[in-house]
Amino acid sequence: MVKRIIIGSDHGGFTLKQRLVKALESWGVEVVDEGPDCTDSCDYPVFAAKVSQKVVAEDGLGILICGTGLGMSMAANRFAGVRAAVCTNEFMARMSRAHNDANILCLGERVIGYGTAEGIVKAYLETEFEGDRHKRRIDLIETVGK
Ligand code: RB5
Repeated sequence: MVKRIIIGSDHGGFTLKQRLVKALESWGVEVVDEGPDCTDSCDYPVFAAKVSQKVVAEDGLGILICGTGLGMSMAANRFAGVRAAVCTNEFMARMSRAHNDANILCLGERVIGYGTAEGIVKAYLETEFEGDRHKRRIDLIETVGK
């Protein structure tokens, strides 16, 4: 199980973030909360940037939550070294780690319920990258569009 997670949201993902922070801490995971600290309307790219920069700098793992997970993933994936994946079920979460080495999990508070979100996060934290042919493919992600 991963021991440290960098997390952030916008107002649309704030309530789920607060609940997941508590769950993560109860599982013994150190949580770095990059905000926000209230439900006031805010801009998801700002928090995507904070989390993405830390994840890349630390070679760590992060979670970003907005209403759908979509805006967060679009913003996070603009940062070199970030592989952000929106997941709506546990299978996607496991595959995002095992095959895609996703280093940021994106969730949509308006899409999934809390129980599903908790299961997704657990699956994400417990699954390791399989490497091998998947490493070749994620390396190709860096070059195919250039
Ligand atoms: C905010 O209303 C909403 O647009 C945002 O949370 C997110 O879903 C964007 O992708």
